[in-house]
Amino acid sequence: MSKVWSNRFDATLNPFIERFNASIFFDKQLIIEDIDCSIAHAHMLGKTNVISKEDAKKIINGLKLIKSDYSLGKFKPDFPSEDIHYSIEERLIELIGDVGKKLHTGRSRNDQVATDIRLWLRKKIDVIDNLIFALQKSLFLIAEKNLYLLIPGYTHMQRAQPLSLAHHLLAYIEMFQRDKERLREVRYRVNISPLGAAALAGTKIKINREITASELGFEKIYQNSIDAVSDRDFAIEFISTSSLIMTHLSRMSEEIILWVTDEFRFAKLTDKCSTGSSLMPQKKNPDVPELIRGKTGRVFGNLQALLTTIKGVPLAYNKDFQEDKEPLFDTVKTVSDCLQAMTILLNEGLVFNENNLMKAVEEDFSNATDIADYLVNKDIPFREAYQIVGKIVKHCMLRKILFKDLNIEEFKKFNTNFQEDIYEFIHPTNVVKSRNSLGGTGFEQVKRQLDIWKKELLD
Ligand code: ARG
Repeated sequence: MSKVWSNRFDATLNPFIERFNASIFFDKQLIIEDIDCSIAHAHMLGKTNVISKEDAKKIINGLKLIKSDYSLGKFKPDFPSEDIHYSIEERLIELIGDVGKKLHTGRSRNDQVATDIRLWLRKKIDVIDNLIFALQKSLFLIAEKNLYLLIPGYTHMQRAQPLSLAHHLLAYIEMFQRDKERLREVRYRVNISPLGAAALAGTKIKINREITASELGFEKIYQNSIDAVSDRDFAIEFISTSSLIMTHLSRMSEEIILWVTDEFRFAKLTDKCSTGSSLMPQKKNPDVPELIRGKTGRVFGNLQALLTTIKGVPLAYNKDFQEDKEPLFDTVKTVSDCLQAMTILLNEGLVFNENNLMKAVEEDFSNATDIADYLVNKDIPFREAYQIVGKIVKHCMLRKILFKDLNIEEFKKFNTNFQEDIYEFIHPTNVVKSRNSLGGTGFEQVKRQLDIWKKELLD
């Protein structure tokens, strides 16, 4: 295979260094985008008469042939080509002869790789956007069914106030909505064409950057050729956005792992999404959420890696940039896989224990604030009411009973304003129902949120 190196070189590369230098092992993933980028470039070279229309046609047909050969498994880019860009160019020359050597007129691998990676990431962002949408939909369908199912709400991992399970799940839908917004913003900055910036300074060949940008569906064009080839902000932004997606998935995983323990028993895993132990026959392990939680570390690592790689790189292109691909590729794969796995887990892997959940909220002091609110309704200042309830809690804890186990006479000993309706007032369902401030867990509020999300996710 002939190398497209210039005649400046007398000797060939040391074989170890040749491999060390190569990126083909991983950048072959960019094959479709690289061919599309070259087709657009060749089109433009023909339209602007930089090369003849006939030559442009031959080049484009050659590139299309490589694409179909690739999809048929007849062409497999690989070492010793240094990278995907060389691999395609070499193949083109092999297929159509010397005219193939005209393809690289007025461009450099620097603007080429910058273009390819944007085209690739733009597609992946759209896929991830859809995966988030699917996950939100699954969350919604469970939420919709569980408006009146209660779950203990926690702060500091201590029982705080009971919640509608729907409300709890809708919180995740909100988080993932912000992730989609961030992704769309990143997409906007990914969708800018660097093609035509050439090595770093532009070119004296009479190219037309608008033609390639529009053929490749870019929204805008980089206005500074140096920035065009040395900007990797978009990749960092994408991994940063992905880190937040993973953070959300990881928090959800952590909750699921807790919910399915013997200590909580809020939910159980079906056989479709849980695994056994090789030693302990009684076990059913939450491997899926554990893996998602674990893989979050990879994505954070990728973010750190890319930030560190880029931070010391002077303008313009430096080979360090070749190191942008693996963290980016790994992030796309990890986030996509985790979103899918979580969606499957929600759809068929997780069943809530309705009885245990309802029982859980009845067996704690998470209605303490409601007793204080009851007294506030009787015109007792909140801080005073708070202290009165503190005494009641202490009393009940010493006797190992709950509020509802106190008879009305006992209640009255703490404050004469207590009436029979206190029992209704502190019943968990009423406790939840009455938290009707905007965005609260009150059923009316949650119903309103469900209606909004139904339009957004199911219409
Ligand atoms: N494989 C290289 C990369 O991924 C392509 C660009 C090489 N450019 C250069 N001037 N050596 O960054």
